Parts: sequence; C-alpha cells; structure tokens
Amino acid sequence: MIHRKGIILAGGSGTRLSPITNAISKQLVPIYDKPMIYYPLTTLMMVGIKEIMIITTKRDEKAFRTLFKNGNHLGISIKYAIQDNPDGIPQALLIAQEFIGDSPIVLVLGDNIFHGSNLIQSLKEANLDDENSTIFAYPVKDPERYGVVEFDGNYNVLNIEEKPKDPKTNYAVTGLYFYQNQVIKKIKNLKPSKRGELEITDLNQLLLSEHRLKIQLLGRGAAWLDTGTCDSLHEASSFIKIIEQRQGFKIGCPEEVSWRQKWISDQQLIKLSKSLLKSGYGEYLMQLIDSSNSKNKYLLGNTPNSIKS
Ligand code: DAU
Repeated sequence: MIHRKGIILAGGSGTRLSPITNAISKQLVPIYDKPMIYYPLTTLMMVGIKEIMIITTKRDEKAFRTLFKNGNHLGISIKYAIQDNPDGIPQALLIAQEFIGDSPIVLVLGDNIFHGSNLIQSLKEANLDDENSTIFAYPVKDPERYGVVEFDGNYNVLNIEEKPKDPKTNYAVTGLYFYQNQVIKKIKNLKPSKRGELEITDLNQLLLSEHRLKIQLLGRGAAWLDTGTCDSLHEASSFIKIIEQRQGFKIGCPEEVSWRQKWISDQQLIKLSKSLLKSGYGEYLMQLIDSSNSKNKYLLGNTPNSIKS
C-alpha cells in the first residue's frame, strides 16, 4: 500500500476575483454551501490520503488553520506552510519537501473541483502506479486558457503546452498531479518562464521526455469545474446546488468522506454535526447516520456504488 502525501496549493493573489479576494483567500470563497477548498480536500480524502499539507499565503494561513485546525476531528492530519510569493505551482513541492520526505505525492490546486461517476476509480489507478506520474485531462471549449495535452490513439502523451495560442487538442490538463518522489530533484533544474514562474507544464514535459508521464482522460461523466472568474464561480455554485438538491447528498463534504472511510466513528460524526446544525449542514451529517441505521439506508448515497467503493 502506497502512502502518498497530499498537497493542496491554496496561495496566489486571486486578483481575477477582486474585490471578493481583497481580504479573503480565493480558496475560502464559498462554492454554494461550503468553502472552495473542501472540494479538493475531499478529492484527496476519497483516494485515501490522510496526511495533507495546505500551502497558502502569510495573510491567509490563520483562516485555514481556524477552519481545519490539525485535521484530527476529520480523522486526518493537516499541516500548513506559507508560499511568500506566487512563484509557480511546482514551488509547492519544494516548500513541502520536508513534509513529503520520501513519499510519493498528490498535488491538487485549491481552486479545482472534480466530481463524477468513474473519477475515484481513475484516481485510485493513478495512486497505485509506483513508477510513473499521472496527469488528468478534461475536454473543454476554451483549451487556450490551460495546459493543453496532445496524445496518440493509445493515450500516450505526445506533448503538453501551457496556454497555447493555437491548441492542438481541446484537452486541458487539470490541476491534479500524481507524482513520484523523484520529481522534487527535477524541480531544482527548472527555470522560470517568461512570466517569471516555475511552470508545472515544464515539469510535466520533463517527465514526458523521460517516459515517466501517464495521462488519464476524465470523460463526459465527470465534471471538472473552473473557478477562475466571477461567472465560472457562480456556475460552479449552481452546479453543486443542483446536484445536491436533486440527489439529496452533498458533494465535497469532508466529514462525510471521513465517516465513510471509517476514519471517524458515528459518535465523532454526531459531535461534529452538533456545531453545524443551524446551517442545515449538521442536520445532513446527522441524517447520514440515521439513514445508514434505518430501512432507508440506500438514501443519501449509502449505495454499494457510493464513494465507499
Ligand atoms: O487549473 C488547471 C491549470 O492550472 C492547468 O491547466 C495549467 O497547466 C496550470 O498552469 C494552471 O494554470 P492557471 O492559469 O489556472 O494557474 P494559476 O496561476 O491561476 O494558478 C492556479 C491556482 O494555484 C490558483 O488558485 C493560485 C494557485 N497558485 C498559483 C501559483 C502560480 C499558488 O497558490 N501559487 C502559485 O505560485
């Protein structure tokens, strides 16, 4: 069993969302009924990752600590580190170097939201690969805004370009990266790009040149949501609201994921829910236990194909 360490990069200045982000971290802005970072956090937790580091700015560190403390109430461990300047996504791995030790890594951007039926299966496959690194691609209408990946009919990666003017495919590279531990050494050889940052695409190109990079495509049944602009923020909230209200269970609820993973007991979940009753979030957590004990246990996502699988 591979014990990957999880890293959530939640820094940056969030200027594309100002004035919303003038006093608060972008990754704490609500997506419908919970802070944005809950979504990438639960993505890591669903893969089984229990040791997580959140990297944020000096200004916002306190707010993240207030939200998650040391993570023990969620059955996980959360550590914190500061990125002084947004000098590039790969820098996160250098900042977290001591925390990572000799483990393999999953890096997720704190503003990336993933949801979908076969998603966890794809992530688990990437988790088990102890030779290659894995990136995830998702078809979009505006690939020029992202890292764009080209691949052949056997899903071998041919090339990756960062925000190309003339994209070769419409497959964007999402902000979720499963890396082997050796990548840390490689980051030290990266040079800042024209925009003055270490580029995650340069790191991925390097892995590609060494035949150490795999790709998984997230299909039509999966959602990868963008939160980069006020419009996409609003759309992401609407998407979450519609699915949650239709199905009756929440997306991106760390208390629930932890309980389903059996990292916290019924009693611990009840305790957590009591402080959240006024918003309805706590009531939802209570209902999880009620439904798992009742004849209605297939309500609220307690089905054999739920996130337990
Ligand atoms: O979202 C996926 C895309 O993320 C990929 O397709 C691109 O290849 C990758 O470069 C990145 O592109 P973005 O233009 O979205 O990167 P951005 O600079 O906006 O940073 C993404 C998030 O990471 C954002 O919430 C801020 C945070 N960040 C970014 C940098 C560069 C940091 O916390 N520190 C940083 O140094």
